[in-house]
Amino acid sequence: MRIQCEHLSYTYNAGSPFAVNALRDVSLTIEEGEFFGILGHTGSGKSTFVQHLNGLLRLPSSLKKYKPKKPKKGETPPPAPVLRVGDYDLTDKKTDFRALRKKVGMVFQYPEYQLFAETVEKDVAFGLKNFLQKGEKLSEEEIKSAVSDALSIVGLDGREMAVRSPFDLSGGQKRRVAIAGVIVTKPEILILDEPAAGLDPLGKREVMELLHNIHGDWCKTVLIVSHDMDEIAENCTRAAVFSEGTVAMCAPPAELFKNAEALLSLGLDIPLTAKLVLALKERGIDVDCDYTTEDFIAKVLALKGGRA
Ligand SMILES: Nc1ncnc2c1ncn2[C@@H]1O[C@H](COP(=O)(O)OP(=O)(O)O)[C@@H](O)[C@H]1O
Ligand SMILES: [Mg+2]
Repeated sequence: MRIQCEHLSYTYNAGSPFAVNALRDVSLTIEEGEFFGILGHTGSGKSTFVQHLNGLLRLPSSLKKYKPKKPKKGETPPPAPVLRVGDYDLTDKKTDFRALRKKVGMVFQYPEYQLFAETVEKDVAFGLKNFLQKGEKLSEEEIKSAVSDALSIVGLDGREMAVRSPFDLSGGQKRRVAIAGVIVTKPEILILDEPAAGLDPLGKREVMELLHNIHGDWCKTVLIVSHDMDEIAENCTRAAVFSEGTVAMCAPPAELFKNAEALLSLGLDIPLTAKLVLALKERGIDVDCDYTTEDFIAKVLALKGGRA
């Protein structure tokens, strides 16, 4: 499923003194199969954007009460927004948003705070039962086996974990259980808002690894919101930089971080590898790498006598 978004704007508390223009005319296409990154400062609109993709936040035209406004005389109306996820038209009130939500899984920030059941198995199973369509039934065996598959793809031993209380686990394990509860329905698109935030370096690495295990066969497209530039450089096929509710840049990391100055001028950080490339450039050494640590090291080791 491809994500196609054009001219998307969103205002919280519209028409009140507390109105906030969180998105302004955002256009962005994400192809099926990508491992896509969304970057930007706090408050730049990242969460507001991704919450549109599974219909958690809705366009006015998709709401039951919506009636199109008549344009005033002499005024050209703004371009109509387009928001499509696969075959789902998210601007249309007739769209089956429940079916959409099954296809587009959403892992919120700090998802472990939403764990609630007595056992890991029950928690993950809840994610599955929650999405059963009308009349659809799964046997206990089917549920057990789906839960155990989901736990194993996030790197937890299903049999050992199933009976434990989620509250007795480490921070990284809890996060993985929460992710299992979303991917258990095998969504085609998996969206994670800051999936590695607040974890120690090992926990972060484990989460990124499990996302690569999921990406492909389990969930075709993975979208992560992150403000960790190294995470984006190491993992993403492309990334979009949000700034004050607009998309300031969108490119593969190799291109994005070549343009380090533009990112720095937005007040954003750059990956460690990009900092090293800049420092070496000041010393007259050009390193042309894709900003993954592996490629950076390979290119530096290939330098002869300090010159490329
Ligand atoms: N529920 C809300 N009510 C009012 N304003 C909000 C709400 N959620 C977010 N905002 C505002 O919208 C803007 C974008 O927020 P958000 O999408 O959460 O950004 P990010 O995820 O990049 O930090 C910010 O100015 C934020 O304060
Ligand atoms: Mg956010």
